Amino acid sequence: MKTVHTIQDVRNQVRQWRQESLTVGLVPTMGNLHAGHMSLVKTAKQHSDKVVVSVFVNPTQFGPNEDFDTYPRTLEQDADLLTQHDADLLFAPSVAEMYPQETFTWVDVEHLGDRLCGAKRPGHFRGVTTVVSKLLHIAMPDHAYFGEKDYQQLAVLRRMVEDQLFATAVIGVPTERDASGLALSSRNGYLSEADKEQALTIYRTLTQARQAIEAGERDYAELCQQSTERLEQAGLTVDYFEIVDANTLAPAQKNTAALRILTAAFLGTTRLIDNVGTIFVDI
Ligand code: PAF
Repeated sequence: MKTVHTIQDVRNQVRQWRQESLTVGLVPTMGNLHAGHMSLVKTAKQHSDKVVVSVFVNPTQFGPNEDFDTYPRTLEQDADLLTQHDADLLFAPSVAEMYPQETFTWVDVEHLGDRLCGAKRPGHFRGVTTVVSKLLHIAMPDHAYFGEKDYQQLAVLRRMVEDQLFATAVIGVPTERDASGLALSSRNGYLSEADKEQALTIYRTLTQARQAIEAGERDYAELCQQSTERLEQAGLTVDYFEIVDANTLAPAQKNTAALRILTAAFLGTTRLIDNVGTIFVDI
């Protein structure tokens, strides 16, 4: 696997692959790679002849009081893991390479990014869509792979690609979990073993809500209320617990056919997110 740091080097490599009629997949990441990212790489290897992985801790998607400075940066380990998983190209640009001048042009997906995580993290999705738009312009991939763990991000990026007519198909990859059910996340590194045990309540509560819906429960507001209480009783501070339309992310109504259950909760200062679904209900 080759590691490059400049946009020009990515373009040169991709141009060469295109001349050989090879397809290209892109896995955008912020590094500190774990088995969750590797499942994106594995899926990419199945669809695309060549796989580019970007590692870039994107400053514009962090709020002023968020963990940009302390976000784990582990490029050497990341490169080893990617080599083991047969990625073809690692793109690890500097901030100056990706943002060479003050940004006047932002990519912003309206509505979908305003609620849920967007409500508490103003500007977050604008930072994500702006950097992913740049990465798509740089690598011009046939496919781009994102985890379902960040379900709202996936929905926002799907819409950006549709609205902006990118020649890239967005592929969502199911959440990778450890044996206990905890969704893998770089931020799990902030948790002690005891915290992880407590964090498990998130997946258990999501699963319980899904089972209730599958068993016929249709009072979604009540179900969200009960689930929130359950999480708070376990010592978590709930940011939101919502049952939404899996496509529009609007709060689910009685006649919503495809549901997703999403939550964000704080364990101490660590903000954890998870979601389950999609549940198809008869309406
Ligand atoms: O999901 C992430 O790691 C980031 O939000 C992404 C998509 C790489 C953009 O910086």
